[in-house]
Amino acid sequence: MTESGPGAWPPVPMRTERLLLRESEARDRGAFIELFASPEAGAYVGGPRPLAELERAVPEVPGRRPGLFVIDLDGAMIGVITLDRRDAARPGHVRPDAGEVELGYMFLPQAWGLGYAAEACAAALAWFAAARPGDPVVLCTQTANDRSMRLAAKLGFTEVQRFEEYGAEQWFGVWPPAAPRG
Ligand SMILES: CC(C)(COP(=O)(O)OP(=O)(O)OC[C@H]1O[C@@H](n2cnc3c(N)ncnc32)[C@H](O)[C@@H]1OP(=O)(O)O)[C@@H](O)C(=O)NCCC(=O)NCCS
Repeated sequence: MTESGPGAWPPVPMRTERLLLRESEARDRGAFIELFASPEAGAYVGGPRPLAELERAVPEVPGRRPGLFVIDLDGAMIGVITLDRRDAARPGHVRPDAGEVELGYMFLPQAWGLGYAAEACAAALAWFAAARPGDPVVLCTQTANDRSMRLAAKLGFTEVQRFEEYGAEQWFGVWPPAAPRG
């Protein structure tokens, strides 16, 4: 368990009904490049990155760090989930000292519409809740990102606020929902 990270790391690989959540490996490199070069996957997260730049910049074992889960379907990577500390300088916080852990997700477009992201995120949140009982998880997504907005609601995130950032309206939510006041 670390103060800055999401919890004890690395966790043992976690199985869900159809998926495996695990650390990244060298064999995931092609899928990482495909994911970050994808115009569909990048549409609401800063846009796709040029393939040539990715081929140069992506390390031999990409994404091997605390908080990043590779989502594996039948031995192949279909996406990534991240649990990282939210930058205290950005808008959107639920704790007075900031430093909340934030959920991020990005899946290859061919894996959309099959419930994989929901299945994997639910497992990552359950792992986090066990590793850091009582700690909230936050999430920020563009309101125009319909799929992401539906996923956030399905996972049980509730709205805290909306604000403008990167020239777009952002939805900022928290999980689990805050206890009612009073
Ligand atoms: C956001 C993102 C992860 C959502 O992926 P997704 O596949 O739509 O999400 P889910 O796993 O919740 O799947 C939901 C769909 O699967 C369908 N589905 C099919 N089989 C299913 C099953 N067995 N169980 C659950 N849902 C199933 C649901 O009906 C739903 O369909 P719909 O999209 O037509 O409503 C994906 O669009 C993505 O990677 N986007 C790019 C990255 C990004 O924008 N990230 C946001 C950063 S904050």
